Amino acid sequence: MHIAFFDSGVGGLTVLYEGMKKMPGENFIYFGDSRHAPYGTKSREEIKELVFNAVDFLAAKGLKALVLACNTATSVAVKDLRKKYDFPIIGMEPAVKPAVENSEEYKVLVCATDLTLREEKLNDLVRNLKADNKVDYLSLQELVMFAENFKINGSEVNAYLEKKLSQPDWSKYNSIVLGCTHFIFFREQIRKLIPEHIRILDGNEGTVNNLITKIEVSNDSEGKRIKYYISGDEAEAGYFEKYLDYLSETDTLKGQVL
Ligand code: SIN
Repeated sequence: MHIAFFDSGVGGLTVLYEGMKKMPGENFIYFGDSRHAPYGTKSREEIKELVFNAVDFLAAKGLKALVLACNTATSVAVKDLRKKYDFPIIGMEPAVKPAVENSEEYKVLVCATDLTLREEKLNDLVRNLKADNKVDYLSLQELVMFAENFKINGSEVNAYLEKKLSQPDWSKYNSIVLGCTHFIFFREQIRKLIPEHIRILDGNEGTVNNLITKIEVSNDSEGKRIKYYISGDEAEAGYFEKYLDYLSETDTLKGQVL
């Protein structure tokens, strides 16, 4: 049985990467719906249909669990998916709670896609934390397609980030939450553009820890077998792997207080 990771494209690889580190004995399927990315600019109905089609495809392979490694898909579909399937389904949750809990007299800046920022799920999370006055929002939607096109570095993406990250008055904040898995690829570039006192948080590790509490983790030493699908077809060799290589090359940043 496999653990499947699903995303609108390549962003969920950042969660899979975390999963591979914590569960080296597991078999994985990665499904990136890259032919339909980005999701964040689509309607709820369109996204729901794409997600259900993908999960039907994955469920037919026999799943131990599914990680919806996409904040946008989680926002619109996780509740309904759980009604339909009986395997554990783990969604993404932006790391707003730890950010707010450590915000002291500062505010928290949540960055996500257009759709995630509009959705009830994020609004409910903030409301339940009684943090409406503590949280501001910034869409970094274009990062999704930069990631899809493997433009992680370079002048175009840096110009975009410089422009977007020059807008907030950083003296008001002490943390920024990356509420889209695609954004994780740009952590290093974001770090360089914001003041040192700002912590960068994401929900990836929490998601994998949550998954581990819901399954019996296999210790099969042969593990790390991954099958990759792009929008329902087998992905060509190397298409997704180059992103995992990039994450592994930049992993020195992990574990630091970023
Ligand atoms: C997108 O496809 O727009 C991004 C999906 C996400 O929230 O990770």
